[in-house]
Amino acid sequence: MTERPSHRLFAAVYDTATRPLERRLDRHRAYLARGLEGDVLELGAGTGAMLPYLAETDATVHAVEPDPHMRKRARSRAERLGVALELRSDLAESLSYDEDSFAAVISSLVFCTVDDPADALDEVARVLRSGGELRFLEHIGDDGVTRRVQEVATPVWRHCAGGCNLDRDTVERFDNHPSFETVETERVERLPLTPFVRGRLERV
Ligand SMILES: C[S@@+](CC[C@H](N)C(=O)[O-])C[C@H]1O[C@@H](n2cnc3c(N)ncnc32)[C@H](O)[C@@H]1O
Repeated sequence: MTERPSHRLFAAVYDTATRPLERRLDRHRAYLARGLEGDVLELGAGTGAMLPYLAETDATVHAVEPDPHMRKRARSRAERLGVALELRSDLAESLSYDEDSFAAVISSLVFCTVDDPADALDEVARVLRSGGELRFLEHIGDDGVTRRVQEVATPVWRHCAGGCNLDRDTVERFDNHPSFETVETERVERLPLTPFVRGRLERV
């Protein structure tokens, strides 16, 4: 069953804990936002790390964030930036938007955490217009020894990191979904236990 996340402490330390990583993710977040216009949905907006980038676009920004502690921070950041954020508490697995609602969907570090990534991707396909893009920045499962370490570490890591899984085969899931064509996928960063990928999928 899909549970609604609520991680007060994780939300409180998130921005401080991720600051060193954010320096490396800056250009990838810019990639996600590049040239966006029209109605754009961000999945799992967290504390609003994408908002400074989305604020520079012509997009009308919608976001879902089911964790109330994260949502509060995202709302404050949107106010500080002057972004008219339309923020809902939906889970990515059950979006409350009509089909064909969005020109693009953004996901950064979310498919590692959603309870049911298959349902979440189906929902993205449903709300995206034909020709629209899912743009993603995600960390993924590796292979070889690192994969085995990821599998062993994930149960503990999930507790410390708001439900995050280290060992998800997210790129394979994206590549194999019948409603999407992969435009590009690139490995862009690496932390000791996890590679990062960014890319774009087009809704066919
Ligand atoms: C690692 S954080 C990433 C936050 C933000 N996207 C970023 O780039 O900093 C993962 C986020 O996904 C949210 N989340 C967890 N389960 C979710 C779900 N089923 N649907 C949508 N968001 C979810 C969490 O509450 C959290 O804010």
